[in-house]
Amino acid sequence: MKITIIGTGYVGLVTGACLAETGNSVLCIDVAAHKIDLLNNGGVPIYEPGLREMLERNRAAGRIHFSTDLAAGAAHGDILFIAVGTPPDEDGSADLQYVLAAARNIGQHMNSFKVIVNKSTVPVGTAQRVQHAIAAELAERALEHPFSVVSNPEFLKEGAALDDFMRPDRIVFGCDNDQNGVRAADMMKSLYAPFNCDHERLLQMDVRSAEMTKYAANAMLATRISLMNELANLAGCIGVDIDAVRAGIGADPRIGKHFLYAGCGYGGSCFPKDVQALIRTASEHDQPLRILSAVEAVNDAQKQVLEQKIVARLGADLSAFRFAVWGLAFKPDTDDMREAPSRVLIAALLARGAKVTAYDPIAMDEARRVFALDLQAESTAFARLSFAAEPMQAVEGADALVVVTEWNAFKSPDFQLLRAQLKTPLIFDGRNLYEPAAMNALEIEYHAIGRTDEPL
Ligand code: UDX
Repeated sequence: MKITIIGTGYVGLVTGACLAETGNSVLCIDVAAHKIDLLNNGGVPIYEPGLREMLERNRAAGRIHFSTDLAAGAAHGDILFIAVGTPPDEDGSADLQYVLAAARNIGQHMNSFKVIVNKSTVPVGTAQRVQHAIAAELAERALEHPFSVVSNPEFLKEGAALDDFMRPDRIVFGCDNDQNGVRAADMMKSLYAPFNCDHERLLQMDVRSAEMTKYAANAMLATRISLMNELANLAGCIGVDIDAVRAGIGADPRIGKHFLYAGCGYGGSCFPKDVQALIRTASEHDQPLRILSAVEAVNDAQKQVLEQKIVARLGADLSAFRFAVWGLAFKPDTDDMREAPSRVLIAALLARGAKVTAYDPIAMDEARRVFALDLQAESTAFARLSFAAEPMQAVEGADALVVVTEWNAFKSPDFQLLRAQLKTPLIFDGRNLYEPAAMNALEIEYHAIGRTDEPL
């Protein structure tokens, strides 16, 4: 099939690469000329395991191309995916200007029956707005090409995106049940047939329910994490090990063992933004989602928990201390720093006068860029932040180690060496990577999240 992807961000690039991989002819469009140049020259603007190789393979086979030419994009695809960004507006609602601009562009250039697929995470009712925007442009051109707008939310996780796309647990798509909608549904089923093996993974529904499914999934997952984080904070004060509790409750199939890890807060491009957007939609309809407002507040507070533990142990004035920070990306296997807990922690440590030496396996360049903006490059706080080339180099002579992201590289360090490198054997662990008993045996003072580390 001929496919056009509008927007070469995270979702767009992964979708484009995976659809080319299954033999489709894919044209990826973006307004950012520098991104398209980079992609045409063999580069990849984001880090995602396996993506570079997959793009290379399909570029070489002539199955994927990149262009800024929207008219060519609208002409090329039988199915046009809209995968542009939906950043939060000032009030928390999703900003749809890029989605609607893409829709207008499609309406201005389409030349035959098209299926337009909303892949971006968009509020309920957006497909209808896309439909109107396209129809208005066609009316302007006095044309009547038939088309149908489909909602096909993407559930991929950063760091595992290719695998999630190639082996999805479900493929949700919402279509209208008119003639064009039925034709669109058939095309979607053939497009996704290669990903629909073993058992039925296609979940067809109406458009609005498909739009809501994405928000509901992220709201449910964010709620799980915030609840675990609050339980962990309590556990730490009453002599309970949250990790034992996690295993105990996760064995119940109704709860399930995934996504129950307490930590120093969730980040990324999806949870914070989607939780906010859903709260906003709910309040617009006078149906406030009180639970989600609490989830958001709990998460904001959780990003401060490491700072609070450090202050409780070392005092409010941290100007005498240098901290090694391991992990800057919002989660492992990505260089994404959006809403990363490390940003809150490091800003707080620096504001209290501390020095920080940070290390991340992949996100270092992105971290330099982000912290120069967050802290202002010429500030004295920024001058107290440095970056180490190796994890142990960050730790050398530091007063404490703070673990913020659970990269595999941090899971079993040489503890003897670590202990020897630290000025004081003190670890604050925001991801519960180590066993308190083992740390005790090594005579390392260990503070984690809800792991019986607080004095009773
Ligand atoms: C998420 C959803 O999983 C995905 O389906 C959706 O399409 C986009 O948002 P992603 O943002 O890539 O994907 O990250 P994910 O792996 O889900 O983690 C989100 C955040 O939750 C991270 O900050 C992670 O550290 C945190 N988390 C996750 C926990 O704190 N505890 C857990 O048990 C799991």
